[in-house]
Amino acid sequence: MSFAEPSTGEGSAPSEHSAASRRDDTPTPEPVPGDDTPVYGFPAALWRAVERHQPPGLGRTHAWRSPLRGPWLTSMFGVVLLVALPVVILTGLLDYIAYGPQFAQAIPAEVGWLRLPGFDWPTRPAWLFRLTQGLHVGLGLVLIPVVLAKLWSEVPRLFTWPPARSLAQLMERVSLLMLVGGILFELVTGVLNIQYDYLFGFSFYTAHYYGGWVFMAGFLAHVVVKLPTMLTALRSRSLRAELRTTRAQTQPEPPDPDGLVATDPGRPTISRRGALALVGGGSLLVAVLTVGQTIGGFARGAALLLPRGRDIGGGPNDFQVNRTALAAAIKPADTGGGWRLTLKAAEKTITLDRAELAAMPQHTATLPIACVEGWSTTETWTGLRLRDLAALVGFPEPHSAEVRSLESHGSFNRAVLTSGQVLDPDSLLALRVNGADLSADHGYPARIIVPALPGVHNTKWVASIEFRRS
Ligand code: HEM
Repeated sequence: MSFAEPSTGEGSAPSEHSAASRRDDTPTPEPVPGDDTPVYGFPAALWRAVERHQPPGLGRTHAWRSPLRGPWLTSMFGVVLLVALPVVILTGLLDYIAYGPQFAQAIPAEVGWLRLPGFDWPTRPAWLFRLTQGLHVGLGLVLIPVVLAKLWSEVPRLFTWPPARSLAQLMERVSLLMLVGGILFELVTGVLNIQYDYLFGFSFYTAHYYGGWVFMAGFLAHVVVKLPTMLTALRSRSLRAELRTTRAQTQPEPPDPDGLVATDPGRPTISRRGALALVGGGSLLVAVLTVGQTIGGFARGAALLLPRGRDIGGGPNDFQVNRTALAAAIKPADTGGGWRLTLKAAEKTITLDRAELAAMPQHTATLPIACVEGWSTTETWTGLRLRDLAALVGFPEPHSAEVRSLESHGSFNRAVLTSGQVLDPDSLLALRVNGADLSADHGYPARIIVPALPGVHNTKWVASIEFRRS
């Protein structure tokens, strides 16, 4: 910001430079180097009037006394977020594309001019969705301590009065509202979603998608405005020297033009290196408690925050279940001897029972299945290649295939697969997993398993597959 801060006053008392002591028709003064006089943009009378009506508790107060607070510490947190948040943003957008918006099956389906340039989500590498979803959820969680530390480091600026002295500053404050409101909204809804807690009562996907765009706009504006400040601040102190500075040696940063450094600093209760270690340690702890849900192996035992539980037994079907047969209202009668699979193409319809399917050439593939909540697991699936089923109905090169479940309700009781997803040699209508028949909860009598496909599109309790020209 180009103006000096002291005009915001100590506590609620206006300083000698305060606008309160000037008349509204005073011409806007030219900034003089070293002069503290505030500069007002158009309409100056409005900004002065706002400045005069300072609500209690706002403005530069003695409340924020930490001697650690200053542009350097803020910029240290900022640089971590600058590197990591674009990864969270990008993987979030990729996940939307993975759901197939071209088939209107991403949520929200219709997003107007926020529609992303779509492409057919690939099937290779098979762990692609596991990676994007794991990074999106995992990194989002790990960054929570850094976001909170960043907000702590800037908290006095949130209570600045006046909030703006020009239209440009007002726009910056609005972008800040989008940034702070956006990130808090995304973090809260994301955490609630992975806990399957929908207390907010609106569609998680829709809100998280639009909230994400609000955050992205605020984030972009913030980075453009603050990048020069960040670079200057980072050059102002040596990280190596800070890491050697004890609590007793910790001194406040020099007064800064934005008034972030405390005017009346208290004694340090922690050094800057201690603060960095605390935040880094917090992030590490969150990582240890969660990454096991994505990478599995020995780390799964440590993933205490895994909503689907860590102990999943040892049988062939003992791995995570997102939606049970009971929750999907699948009755044993629907999946018993009377169950038939219907295969459709333009002019042909074939109906097969499970014994007929099991008698056809089977293929086995070891593939991960990854859920939107961030967990994933790799299992060995056996069944019929989807491309063989397409050929069976005389349509070996379909443009897409619509799979329908026996499940009559729910957002994911059908899924459209792209041509590439149908034709991949490991894309299966699975009948068995890890050498045993699928359990009811894993989709008996048959389920879809396609490399890199979002978990919920690997339809369970399949009733029909229609191979389509469009
Ligand atoms: C979740 C992401 C972020 C949040 C919630 C956040 C929040 C804030 C807030 C509220 C302010 C005070 C702004 C003002 O009143 O002028 C601020 C200042 C600042 N931010 Fe961020 N920020 C985020 C990410 C970043 C990133 C990625 C950078 C890197 C460019 C960054 C660098 C800065 C800098 C350099 C300042 C000014 C420090 C000063 O006052 O001297 N921030 N941030």
